[in-house]
Amino acid sequence: MFVTAALPYANGSFHIGHIMEYIQADIWVRFQRLLGHEVHFVCADDAHGAPIMLKADSEGIAPEELVARIAAERPRYLQGYHISFDHWHSTHSPENTRLSQEIYRKLKAKGLIETRTIEQFFDPVKAMFLPDRYIKGECPVCHAKDQFGDACEVCGSVYAPTDLINPYSTITGAAPVMRSSEHYFFKLSDPRCRDFLAQWTGGGRLQAEVANKAREWLGSDTAAEADEADPAADGAPADPQADTLADWDISRDAPYFGIPIPDAPGKFFYVWLDAPVGYLASLMAHCARVGLDFESFVAPGDGLTADGLAREQVHFIGKDIIYFHTLFWPAMLKFSDFKVPDHVFVHGFLTVSGEKMSKSRGTGLSPLKYLDLGMNPEWLRYYLAAKLNSRVEDVDFNADDFIARVNSDLVGKLVNIASRCAGFLTKRFDGTLAEADPATAQAFAGGWAGVDAISDLYQQRELGKAMREIMALADRVNQFIDSEKPWELAKRPDQSERLHRVCSDALRAFRDLALMLAPVLPATAAKVGAFLNQDGATWASLREPLPAGHRIRPYQHLLQRVDPKQVDALFAPPPDQESGPAAGPAKAAAGAGAAGAEGAGAKTATAAAATTAATAAGGAPSGMDSGTGIIGIDDFSKVQLRVARIVSAERVDGSSKLLKLMLDIGESQPRQVFSGIAAHYDPADLAGKLTVMVSNLAPRKMKFGLSAGMVLAAFGAEDEKGIFLLEPHAGASPGMVVR
Ligand code: MSP
Ligand code: ZN
Repeated sequence: MFVTAALPYANGSFHIGHIMEYIQADIWVRFQRLLGHEVHFVCADDAHGAPIMLKADSEGIAPEELVARIAAERPRYLQGYHISFDHWHSTHSPENTRLSQEIYRKLKAKGLIETRTIEQFFDPVKAMFLPDRYIKGECPVCHAKDQFGDACEVCGSVYAPTDLINPYSTITGAAPVMRSSEHYFFKLSDPRCRDFLAQWTGGGRLQAEVANKAREWLGSDTAAEADEADPAADGAPADPQADTLADWDISRDAPYFGIPIPDAPGKFFYVWLDAPVGYLASLMAHCARVGLDFESFVAPGDGLTADGLAREQVHFIGKDIIYFHTLFWPAMLKFSDFKVPDHVFVHGFLTVSGEKMSKSRGTGLSPLKYLDLGMNPEWLRYYLAAKLNSRVEDVDFNADDFIARVNSDLVGKLVNIASRCAGFLTKRFDGTLAEADPATAQAFAGGWAGVDAISDLYQQRELGKAMREIMALADRVNQFIDSEKPWELAKRPDQSERLHRVCSDALRAFRDLALMLAPVLPATAAKVGAFLNQDGATWASLREPLPAGHRIRPYQHLLQRVDPKQVDALFAPPPDQESGPAAGPAKAAAGAGAAGAEGAGAKTATAAAATTAATAAGGAPSGMDSGTGIIGIDDFSKVQLRVARIVSAERVDGSSKLLKLMLDIGESQPRQVFSGIAAHYDPADLAGKLTVMVSNLAPRKMKFGLSAGMVLAAFGAEDEKGIFLLEPHAGASPGMVVR
């Protein structure tokens, strides 16, 4: 079996959603291995694309360096959560270049590649074509400002970037211009593709809801409506061109961090072309490393290969990338003469305490902090397993539920069996098991689904049901122990034989429980294997109860309870956020300074604000620790803030960034302030509005005149770029003190 998880973008650390996907896939993979299947489980960094290039740019490093930095942190997470990938690769690799170019050449030879000249927004400052997500502007429908190029977050309208009013590049703030460029397309509209995909999506490879979605996309009539109803949740790409099965634009112009298109100077594969090829590249590198025949894994045909073994190719992914994996990817493989996937298993999203996770901000549950706090990764594996099913449903992490579930199931039910029985065997019976009692075996066989059903549930990824059935057996065993009361039998010499049998049978069942949970709790299962003196057990071992006379080793502690204090610590804000609102305004002010002027002037302004803050912190009275950035109220009150009315706002000749604001703060004359918000505000919309300004900032002479203060604004990070002026609630008036 060739199994993958989605390749994470290499511009950021793992978040807990990634970890959930890996845990789900890893449990399935470990189950397959336990069945005796040969599994090659691989993944890789998805290294290419504009966001990674631009992020590296903004840090002043090469994209390779950014990717290498992220790659270096991966093992800590993967080992930490017992994720058993056989290989981790990168899409920025010789294997991927070779395979992507080979696939492209084959598609081209089949007449499935076409070039077309398209018009696209171009950032004249950055000298690059702008991906839609880097274009913002005013919604053509409701006129909300700063909306993305594909859809309005305020009124929900869907449109093309060219429909935006006053569009701007979120990279440079420049107004984009239309330019034409030759693009390469994969002709998915070709009848060969449609026919193949109609058959492939209907072949029982996909979950019913995923197959329905894919077939909806395939039929062009229904697709557009479906996407409009729910553009984000179903994984359809934002590009409105693509939501009926139109030809797929697979090229991007330089500058781009990607794989060059053969015989097309200055053209690169769009990242989503080479990303799934990365699955093959990782497998190829893995095969080379361990001496396997790569070709035999990827050769077309669903039947047996020459060596008589069936090959299966399985991809685990999240619901946002269904489109790529059920339409583009199988078609790419099919028409470049590779094997097509046997299954694409789609999961929903993980939320934490009901909250969606933001890609830029991550979430309240930091996977590394969890490990650093010494929390057991198997708690999380078990908890997620208990909540996962085979459908595309979201899963919520709830702290109280987590503590209750882990402590009651893993400690209260599972470990309890061994800890109550093992000691008697070791002390009284030399650690050897008695003959099994057929009546007890019979009793344990009822009241739960049984081994074969558990096996089916794992196979179907019905992990929640599997966990419940396994725990139902644990309940029976505990009831048995409760009614036999080995601790009382132990006090009666005439009951020695019974004590021996009770403890032996309980431990036999415990072996089965641990073995059935091994895909979820690999480390605990290994400890149990050592304790029961039975290494290398497989699923088939469940058919062979531990024999009479089998000797176990002394019981050693298996698994700790979750301490609610750890969970509190996990969700406690990091120390630098505990200082509360005081940190906020300082940051906003510094930011506004940076945007408040151009070139060297901007640096001076930022430096001025920063210096004020630093001096303040350094000279903090009342024992404030300058290292934490915490300041006293005296420091904060050095910054004089006033409500300001924007009397007028106008563009500045010779500057694309600055607006000239005249601000009324109750003084005899309005103050003149230059602010770097031109890309984000239409001056006409600002006149008359209230905002907040720093009124005691030393005035600064600029090329365009004197700037006597600074307005405050919020700055979006990463994918929420934008600048948002602060505005007081109704009732505030010009000149009021802000403190
Ligand atoms: N690079 C692409 C995938 C290319 S596959 C050839 C990508 N990367 S990603 O880092 O954004 O997401 C990687 C995987 O994590 C996807 O399967 C995605 O669905 C999954 N998840 C992202 N957020 C998630 C949750 N909140 N919960 C569960 N899985 C989530 O997409
Ligand atoms: Zn709108």
